[in-house]
Amino acid sequence: MPTTLITGGTVVTSTGRSEADVLVDGETIVAVLAPGSVLLGNDLSTAVDAVIDATGKYVIPGGVDAHTHMELPFGGTAASDTFETGTRAAAWGGTTTIIDFAVQTYGQKVMDGLAAWHQKAEGNCAIDYGFHQIIGDVNDDSLQAMRGLLDEGVSSFKLFMAYPGVFYSDDAQILKAMQVSADTGLMTMMHAENGPAIDVLAQQLVEAGKTDPYYHGMARAWQMEEEATHRAIMLSNLTGAPLYVVHVSAKQAVEQLAWARDNGQNVFGETCPQYLYLSLEEQLGASSDEWGAFEGAKWVCSTPLRSKAEGHQHHMWQSLRTNDIQMVSTDHCPFCMKGQKDLGLGDFRKIPNGIGSVEHRMDLLYQGVVDGQISLERWVEITSTTPARMFGLYGRKGVIQPGADADIVIYDPEGHTSIGVGKTHHMNMDYSAWEGFEIDGHVDTVMSRGKVVVDDNQYVGAKGDGRYLKRGLSQYLI
Ligand code: URP
Ligand code: ZN
Ligand code: ZN
Repeated sequence: MPTTLITGGTVVTSTGRSEADVLVDGETIVAVLAPGSVLLGNDLSTAVDAVIDATGKYVIPGGVDAHTHMELPFGGTAASDTFETGTRAAAWGGTTTIIDFAVQTYGQKVMDGLAAWHQKAEGNCAIDYGFHQIIGDVNDDSLQAMRGLLDEGVSSFKLFMAYPGVFYSDDAQILKAMQVSADTGLMTMMHAENGPAIDVLAQQLVEAGKTDPYYHGMARAWQMEEEATHRAIMLSNLTGAPLYVVHVSAKQAVEQLAWARDNGQNVFGETCPQYLYLSLEEQLGASSDEWGAFEGAKWVCSTPLRSKAEGHQHHMWQSLRTNDIQMVSTDHCPFCMKGQKDLGLGDFRKIPNGIGSVEHRMDLLYQGVVDGQISLERWVEITSTTPARMFGLYGRKGVIQPGADADIVIYDPEGHTSIGVGKTHHMNMDYSAWEGFEIDGHVDTVMSRGKVVVDDNQYVGAKGDGRYLKRGLSQYLI
């Protein structure tokens, strides 16, 4: 197996940084050494097959994006990135693992839904991938099937308190699924918004002629998120199920999570780049010659963008510092404006919900380091180490240490990244939700299990490089 030595860089982990060389043998990191180490009398750089000079750069574990939706059928269409295009874009941006959501639709068997996702992904991915399981139909059969998920390497499932008639579970169904979660250790992931109440508000807005994308955020008010988060926490408290609330955007929802954690509950929260950088005010102000106010559809997602004036964005960064929120995933769910988002022209309820970000999460969060929002180590922790620990991948992923998969990113703090279509954009979308964002850093080299897949602004990997990851239980549970 080829050997590679990464020399001269600053190795950054969630616990610190050091000047060190990283020795890779085949797919695995075999040593982290003092710079210029001599091994058994040999200068290592002459003994290996390849040397990568990382002088002046950060050497970090590859990003782990624990929330993506490749090819998700949703909102009358399907997410526009395939596993091929989406994982390649992820690699471009320094993410070397995704955990996507397999779907059990209403009336479908859980294991059939999982098999369908394997079929979509197998042989197509640029980087390694795992699955969570969406349970869209909680019934006796699916409750039984969930007990077999861990054997399949799926250690978490997602329920929805939103989207009545699509993925929605009522409280009785949630209670039963959480009982399985408590029994098995499977992590309950929750989309916490009060869907039935939101649907009433949305209908009232449309009847009043308020049909622009901005009203999506009005209907999905923060009270709807706070209430559902609290309800999920109480059901988790009652059952003992570990709970992970996805795409948290409201500061009041974070307060609920912090309260539950202070009470000793195994409750965790994820936020996404859109809630750290984008706002409802910007969505309201968005207008273009082509789309007018419908331009705002580019940022229609659920949970929605929140008001900056109300302090949600500020609170979200603060929560990342204080660990009230534990990690950042993208909730990558891309749709094109033409032929997809435009299904909702004249009625915001018909706009497919989702934003594409899988390519930009590492850069966007690195900008948080530059801006003084988080430390360098916390950047690695919330984008790689914690996701790996949270979802049973740690040791293989999320860390630079002997025995770990050689998923390594060389990040240049002196580099620059201009985000936008025609610049750095490899996602299968006809726009970028991040157009015009400038990042004071750059992903230089990406290694996935020992193979360089991105080098010097070139993609040098191949479809099918990525393998399915069987995951264990969350390492945050006792
Ligand atoms: O708007 C979103 N988040 N779309 C993807 C589906 C989900 O709820 O995560
Ligand atoms: Zn969701
Ligand atoms: Zn999602």
